[in-house]
Parts: sequence; structure tokens; C-alpha cells
Amino acid sequence: MALADIRESVEKFLLALQSAFQARAMYGEAHKLTKEALGEAHSMMQGAVLSRPDVTLGVVGEMLIFDKQPLHRLARTAALLTGLLIDGKIEKVSFLKAATRDELGAFLALVEARRKLDANAAAAIDTSGLRNIVIEGLGIDESRDGRKADRETNPCAAYYTEGVDVLGDIAQSIGDKRAIDADKANAFINKILGRLLENKSPLLIAASLKKHDEYSFVHSLNVAVISLAQAQGLGMSAPLVAEIGMAGFLHDSGKLALAGQVLRKKEKLSEDEFAKVKSHPLDGAKLLMLTPGIHPLIAVAAFEHHVRYDKKGYPTKVFGGDLNLGSMIVAIADVYDALRSVRSYKEGMTPEKVYEEMHKMSGTHFHPDLLEAFFSSVGVFPPGTMVELDDGHVGIVIAENDAEIRQPIVEVWYAKGGAKERQPYVVDLAEKGPGGSYRHTVLTSMLPTEVYEIPAKYRVD
Ligand SMILES: [Fe+2]
Ligand SMILES: [Fe+2]
Repeated sequence: MALADIRESVEKFLLALQSAFQARAMYGEAHKLTKEALGEAHSMMQGAVLSRPDVTLGVVGEMLIFDKQPLHRLARTAALLTGLLIDGKIEKVSFLKAATRDELGAFLALVEARRKLDANAAAAIDTSGLRNIVIEGLGIDESRDGRKADRETNPCAAYYTEGVDVLGDIAQSIGDKRAIDADKANAFINKILGRLLENKSPLLIAASLKKHDEYSFVHSLNVAVISLAQAQGLGMSAPLVAEIGMAGFLHDSGKLALAGQVLRKKEKLSEDEFAKVKSHPLDGAKLLMLTPGIHPLIAVAAFEHHVRYDKKGYPTKVFGGDLNLGSMIVAIADVYDALRSVRSYKEGMTPEKVYEEMHKMSGTHFHPDLLEAFFSSVGVFPPGTMVELDDGHVGIVIAENDAEIRQPIVEVWYAKGGAKERQPYVVDLAEKGPGGSYRHTVLTSMLPTEVYEIPAKYRVD
């Protein structure tokens, strides 16, 4: 969009916002006409932020400034709005792309309240309802919102604590030769599924960021989450999705009771140890087959999860016919999580590389269509990945775009050079410019550093 057009759309937005203020003053904030006027202002705002992450206005003297230039035409037509900002001692306001209609309403309420108070009292007005509208002015602590966003914690962390507990109990039962508590495991997986059906991104972010290795309980939990996401992406019914999630959760039952030291051993395993590791699919399947409340599919998946699509792998003696669908889904999740976990202690296995490596195994290790569907449900840069964009900004992938697996949705936290954005904002990389090419692309994925930290609200450790 040309700059003149952008300026015009910003003017339209501000006039609509002013009309909404008038409607609010006349009819009250709950009235239908006020809501309609706010809706209009919101759609104008969306027009104005089409080609940029936000609309930022300064107030200098009696003039509104946009992009360093005064909006002369508004001096007369938007005098009411300008006066409100001046009286409210607001010096700068940014409307971020994600700002909602209700936030515009809350902004007007706040401006009104500030106007009525003196500067000192104005500082006491709560700006917490304005996540995507940032104001600066007398008595406003500029860093407040940024700090607040950083105090939030990952809501999925609790699932990891609980899941590790459930698996710990299962390992204990296996070690003691007692039956596994299938009801408890089923209830846990159904709880995770409920969360996933609401929005899978927070769980995938947690699965990306929880530090672990291939032999930890966290790996089993991640395989459950990734298997659930795959099955859901394939459009399966909820009960079947839950079974596949359970299959992922319990895929390594046969080695849950093996001591971690054996599994992590760097030296050559003794013959006995090696045999035990190799027989974990069969051991797990036997155990699950005999457990009341466990669907047979789950035992089959435990048996087949190391059998490749081309029937190589192990065990070598598989029953005739095709592999079970659940087994093939769990196999993808298993390898994906194992390759990715390498990243936590050995540099080099970036998500791009994992994608490339797994693609090389399409048709041999994995069912090609399932692998395709898998990457469209998690993307090349899965939620939780820190990425640098082509303009030097750095952010966290918060969701994937199904059809455009390299163009995720990114929450930008750092400006070019590493300065922390005062207010993070969201960029959808699938958006294209007028020329038909993407406005932004991912330059590379990154490992967090001391400068580029994972925001607290996503961290799981
Ligand atoms: Fe395994
Ligand atoms: Fe595994």
C-alpha cells in the first residue's frame, strides 16, 4: 500500500474511533449503536494495519502525528479525539494488529477516565485490559505491560508434571509386576485431548520447549501429544484420536522399567542389555495385551512402532498385511521427538534439518502421505521454535499454517539487533504483499541465547 493510502486509511480509522466515542457518550457503552460504531472503527483499523504491525500516533501540540508527519486534515475533523488525548495526557498510542473491538472500547473508556483525573491519579488507571493497545504518557509506566507479559507462565507446564507422575507410576507398576492403572492413563490422555481440541498450539509449544532426552518420561508424553495432533489433523473421531494418543503415551512401555543408565549408556551395551532394548516392542505389547482397559490397538502400536513402512526395522517377524495406522502415526512422532531432542545436548539438529532428514525417510521408514499430513499439522518450524525473520526481527512460532508449512504465525519479541520489543506483536507469515510474494519469511531457526530468551509464558522448565 502506498504511503498516501496508508495515511488515508489511518485518518478514516481515527474518525471512526471518534464517532465511536461520541456514540458511547450518547448511548452508553453497552448500547447496540455504540457497539456498531466500535465495530466500524475496528474494521477501519484493520484496513490501516494491513501492511504494518501497528498504527502508532504521536500527539504533539494540538496535532496528531503519524509516521513523523502531522495529519493536517484531522486538525479540524478530529478535534474532539485530539482534545481527548491531550486532556488525558497521552503522548503516544500504538494500535497493534491484534487489537480487538472490545479493546478499542476499553481504550476509549480509559481515555475518558484519564481526562477526568489529574496526572498523578491517572497513573493509577489500570491498563491491563489493553493487551494490544500501548499508550505512553504522563504517569504511565512504559515497561509495565512488557513486564506483565513476561510474568505469565506456561499453562501446559502442569500437564507435564502430571504426565511424568502418571508414567512414573506405570514404570513402578511394571517394575513391581503389578497391573498398570489404565483408567488413570486414559483419564490423563483424555484431559490432554480436551485441551488439544480447544487449541493445539500451547501443547505443541510445551512439547517443543520441554528439555528431555529420548529415554525420559517426557519423551513418551511428547510422543502422545504429537500423535494426538497428527490423528486429529487426519480428521479421525475423538475416541480413535484418544486411542492413538494412548498408543503414543505407552509406546515404550516395554522399556519404561529399564534403568535409565542402561538406556543412556554411551559404551557398548552388554549382550543382555542389548537384547532387552531390542525386545522392548514385544515386551511392551505383551504387557499391554494383558492389561484390562487397554485397547488392543495400543498393544499393536507398541509392538510395531519400530517396524518401518517398508517392513524393515524391528521386530522382523510382523504379522502379515499392512502396519496398523496407529503404529505408523506413533512411529513418525517417535522419530520426530527423538531427532528433536538431540538438539538439547548437541548442536546441529535444527527443525529445518529434522524436516529434511525425515523427508529422506519418506516411503522407507514412513508412510509418505502420513508424513506429509504430519508436517502440515506441525509445520517445518513447529510452535515453540525461535526464529529470525528476513527483516532481522526475532520471535517465537505460536502456530503453524496448514497449507504453508514454512510460513508459520510468529509472535515477534525482539527488534533487529536484539532490543526487546516493548509490546510483542503477531505476524502471520502466510500473508502476501500486493506482488503476490510473502511479506516476510523465516531466515533461520535459532537456539535461545542470553539476549534472545524464550518468554516466560512459554517456558516449561
Ligand atoms: Fe521404542
Ligand atoms: Fe520412543
